[in-house]
Amino acid sequence: MEKRNEKLLLFVMVVALMSTGIDGKVTSHHKKHLKVHRMLKMLNKPSVISIKSEDGDTINCVDIYKQPAFDHPALKNHTIQMTPSYNPTTVELMTKGNESAMTVISQTWHKNGSCPIGTVPIRHIRKRDLLRAASLKSYVRKDPYIPYAKAHITADVNEFPQANRSMAYLITQGYSYLGARGDINVWNPYVEAKDEYSSAQIWLRNGPPDKYESVESGWMVNFKVYGDTRTRLFAYWTADSSTNTGCFDLTCSGFVQTNNQIALGAAIEPVSQQYRTQYQISIYVYMEPKTGNWWLQYGNKINIGYWPGHLFKSLSHNALYVMWGGEVYSSNIRTVYPISKHSHTQTHMGSGEYAGHHFGSACFIKNVRIMDYSLSLKFPEWIYSTTDEQFCYHSQIYREGYLTEPEFYFGGPGLSFLCP
Ligand SMILES: *[C@@H]1O[C@H](CO)[C@@H](O)[C@H](O)[C@H]1NC(C)=O
Ligand SMILES: *[C@@H]1O[C@H](CO)[C@@H](O)[C@H](O)[C@H]1NC(C)=O
Ligand SMILES: *[C@@H]1O[C@H](CO)[C@@H](O)[C@H](O)[C@H]1NC(C)=O
Ligand SMILES: *[C@@H]1O[C@H](CO)[C@@H](O)[C@H](O)[C@H]1NC(C)=O
Repeated sequence: MEKRNEKLLLFVMVVALMSTGIDGKVTSHHKKHLKVHRMLKMLNKPSVISIKSEDGDTINCVDIYKQPAFDHPALKNHTIQMTPSYNPTTVELMTKGNESAMTVISQTWHKNGSCPIGTVPIRHIRKRDLLRAASLKSYVRKDPYIPYAKAHITADVNEFPQANRSMAYLITQGYSYLGARGDINVWNPYVEAKDEYSSAQIWLRNGPPDKYESVESGWMVNFKVYGDTRTRLFAYWTADSSTNTGCFDLTCSGFVQTNNQIALGAAIEPVSQQYRTQYQISIYVYMEPKTGNWWLQYGNKINIGYWPGHLFKSLSHNALYVMWGGEVYSSNIRTVYPISKHSHTQTHMGSGEYAGHHFGSACFIKNVRIMDYSLSLKFPEWIYSTTDEQFCYHSQIYREGYLTEPEFYFGGPGLSFLCP
């Protein structure tokens, strides 16, 4: 009698375990599926027309009032500002004889159509793009700043090494900045692993290292976000060092796009090759003091759109430092202890050549400018260049004679005998 009861109990338990096991799996699978479905719906707004580009992208032309920005609770009643209230003054930009590069404005998808007025071009996100990411949160956002690195922060708060990130940059600080621009040389660097990326960009920031607010733009090779190894135009923002807010391009509600020609996240073509014609993109991020909106300008006159001031706290007033340069993301770098035992990543920064190789070989950022409260563009008064891993990626302020203005070169191949 007791034995039978025991058997029965065992049987009941096994059945119970099996059913919860299976149910649990089904529900979590179902939940993930629902989440992906919801996110795709949020990201891919109904389009007026869709354009298939030969590079594999689909560009959706979305009604300007139906773009993702309007999902943000703070933007429910937001009136789109179609143009900035003032035209930021430009200054004569310096180019040096045969060392000038062509500015790229066209995007690959332009060959296959254009978005009508009243719509904005948005890259279509596929289901497989979301499934590639470890989590939906990590699809749209860079990794957060990890506080344990704080122990290694040196006296200067801005020189903070970040886990898994290696940077080489030019920095200016000490004033309030309302804008910054630069002409960024375009390359297609080798990126070793699919969860790594390499960028060349401008950062405008405010706030402490563990809770900084940032607007960023430039080019990037990022398989995880874009699903290929092309060089793409990107924009990025965060209001809390990438912990819970912000994203790339229009992959969350935030950036308000006003332009119907330039798609964020689209491939840039052509890219530079060693000692051939050099190509560059012009990036200018500037604030409108009245609204606190940060405008993103491309190619010296195209206003792509803006990050509304509501997204930020301190950054809605000004930026306290500006950086120009490159960032490599990889778990195999040496900026923060404990150091990985794996050899250094082979992911290139810039062109993959060291800064000292200069024009035609190393990646440059020229015509570096900042804007202050005078609302005019100036060469920054105080600049300093630095690199997180001096044996892996270099940075250099280079000046050819006293009559020319300084240019910034950066980059390197990563792994080498000096950077094991
Ligand atoms: C938007 O406007 C409505 C009606 O005027 C108001 O009730 C609501 O609080 C506003 N929302 C925001 C986020 O400002
Ligand atoms: C520019 O011209 C100088 C002098 O003619 C030459 O030495 C240099 O190699 C040229 N640079 C490029 C990138 O063509
Ligand atoms: C895009 O345009 C190019 C050049 O006109 C053409 O060769 C290609 O077939 C088009 N691609 C698509 C997907 O329509
Ligand atoms: C660094 O990257 C590795 C591999 O992707 C990841 O497991 C780790 O959590 C990252 N570290 C930090 C501090 O983000």
